[in-house]
Amino acid sequence: MTATFRAGDLVLLYQDSRRHWITRAGEGRFHTHRGYLDLKDIVGMESGVSVKTSLGQSLAVFKPRLSDLVESFDRPTQILYPKDIGYAIYMLGLKNGDSVVEVGTGSGALTAAIAQSVAPDGRVYTYENRNEFLRAAQKNVRKGSISRLVTFRNIDPAEGFLERNADAAVIDLGDPWRLVAPAWEALAGGGVLAAFTPTVNQLEKLADALRKNMFLVLEAVELLVREFKTEAGKVRPESRMIGHTAYVTIARKVASKE
Ligand SMILES: C[S@@+](CC[C@H](N)C(=O)[O-])C[C@H]1O[C@@H](n2cnc3c(N)ncnc32)[C@H](O)[C@@H]1O
Repeated sequence: MTATFRAGDLVLLYQDSRRHWITRAGEGRFHTHRGYLDLKDIVGMESGVSVKTSLGQSLAVFKPRLSDLVESFDRPTQILYPKDIGYAIYMLGLKNGDSVVEVGTGSGALTAAIAQSVAPDGRVYTYENRNEFLRAAQKNVRKGSISRLVTFRNIDPAEGFLERNADAAVIDLGDPWRLVAPAWEALAGGGVLAAFTPTVNQLEKLADALRKNMFLVLEAVELLVREFKTEAGKVRPESRMIGHTAYVTIARKVASKE
């Protein structure tokens, strides 16, 4: 269904495949180096149309996707890359209605993606021990329409998450092994865990803790993405690529019989 803009809606404007900006439909003008656009003219417009600035520059007008919004997030912490987020969400099997516990929130990039995956009836309980990061993440996540699905907790959950019977647990911090036993307690039987570790030393300690705490380690992977130039006659990989980011570990809770 084609979406129509109302006053106050976020709008993504594309000049070409590289240059793009996010603004709001309604009041004021948006300026490019080739003219301006009256933002009130966007109200009532359908997503996907092309408009012209006062000097004839074409701009494509879209509803932003979550990935577009995350690009505009403030980043007081390192955030996960789309390749790692997307893979983890798929392997966690997230769906509408799921309940997910997460630590640490950081800038909220992963939190927002999880919330979108469990919408409209699911819930994310995200833990962050640094208040300033939590506040930045709250502000970031409010840019999407999914913030009502997120409960922010300014607590270190090493002594235990407040939730039980969660469908999934997600860990993205420096010492993930400390959170493995609390994650086991928070998960429902068969619940899935994803953890992100930048170094193999952390991965080794994490995998050891998972095995000692009744998790089945399904896999630890590194994802490499190679972007391509797509200009006719010159289609080839880009010269540069993102090298190492994080290892993604996926595990499942095995409940004891007792
Ligand atoms: C790498 S960042 C997470 C980034 C996040 N996944 C994102 O994509 O925006 C790790 C976060 O974990 C938080 N953290 C570290 N130890 C913690 C703990 N014991 N309890 C709660 N948060 C913790 C840090 O303050 C930091 O904000």
